[in-house]
Amino acid sequence: MIRPVLVLTIICSSVLSYHQYRELKCSTPTNSIRGGPDRAECHLVLKEEELETGRPVPTGLGCWQEEHDGEEREYCDIVCPKSHTVFISFIDQGHRACFNFITYQIEKRNDEHVLWRSGKCLNSTVNYRIGCKFDDPFDTQFKSDNEIFAHLRARVRKV
Ligand SMILES: *[C@@H]1O[C@H](CO)[C@@H](O)[C@H](O)[C@H]1NC(C)=O
Repeated sequence: MIRPVLVLTIICSSVLSYHQYRELKCSTPTNSIRGGPDRAECHLVLKEEELETGRPVPTGLGCWQEEHDGEEREYCDIVCPKSHTVFISFIDQGHRACFNFITYQIEKRNDEHVLWRSGKCLNSTVNYRIGCKFDDPFDTQFKSDNEIFAHLRARVRKV
């Protein structure tokens, strides 16, 4: 039995929170899912709702490389600044190279969230669907996609 207090809590938190969705789509020329000979290229898709088509960000924009303990990682900004909750709502099932906490992970940096990939996942086709929850409407942070693109260009320069 579901208790009324719990129901009320769920209703309140869904009313007081605003969400956005993202898709990070990475693909290699051969569409390998076990780490092929080529690096994947990624682009982000901005969405208000999980299942809409969304607005694509130019390929590679908001992504950069870093080295961690001698291992290369590619980071991609998912444009959810000040989000209090970020979660992966979907990733291709049965992936042979991309494993959460091993070859990919969402990481919080200051107010922002980035998704990194490493190892064979860097050379694999993989799609992530990501949800972000905010206390305030997203358009209080960005008025247009051009502002989002400018934010991503500036973000990569800072690294
Ligand atoms: C991944 O792709 C890069 C660039 O083509 C290549 O140099 C590297 O050997 C590949 N890695 C693997 C594990 O095959």
